[in-house]
Amino acid sequence: MTPDQRADAGLLTEIDHVAIAVRDLEAAISYYADTFGATVSHRERIESDGVEEALIRVADSYIQLLTPTTPDSPVARYLERKGEGIHHVGYRVADCGAALQAVRDAGGQLIDQTPRPGSRGTTVAFVHPKAAFGTLIELVQE
Ligand code: CO
Repeated sequence: MTPDQRADAGLLTEIDHVAIAVRDLEAAISYYADTFGATVSHRERIESDGVEEALIRVADSYIQLLTPTTPDSPVARYLERKGEGIHHVGYRVADCGAALQAVRDAGGQLIDQTPRPGSRGTTVAFVHPKAAFGTLIELVQE
């Protein structure tokens, strides 16, 4: 075993997804299809978050193309402020509630105080980017 294989990401077991905010979901899907031959494995509208997503599977992880469905959703505001691009990183965890508590105990800043339903039947919680070196982190329990 190499030293790299022994390295440990603690509570983070895998990259679940990299989320990319886009203005035109169909155009982004076409780009990945035409450029990389990548096809969508899952689509879902999450009304409570005001988003529609298209997931492209890459090995055991996903690229999550994300577009707002309402003008006042957080992703719509993000696009207005920062434009298209990487929006958040989803890390897989074994237990979302335990991981959230660990972030809280470490003095991290939470967006979700308790885990909530995500897409694909997952349980998720978001950690604020301000106290996480500028990256919005999503904890994802499958
Ligand atoms: Co996500």
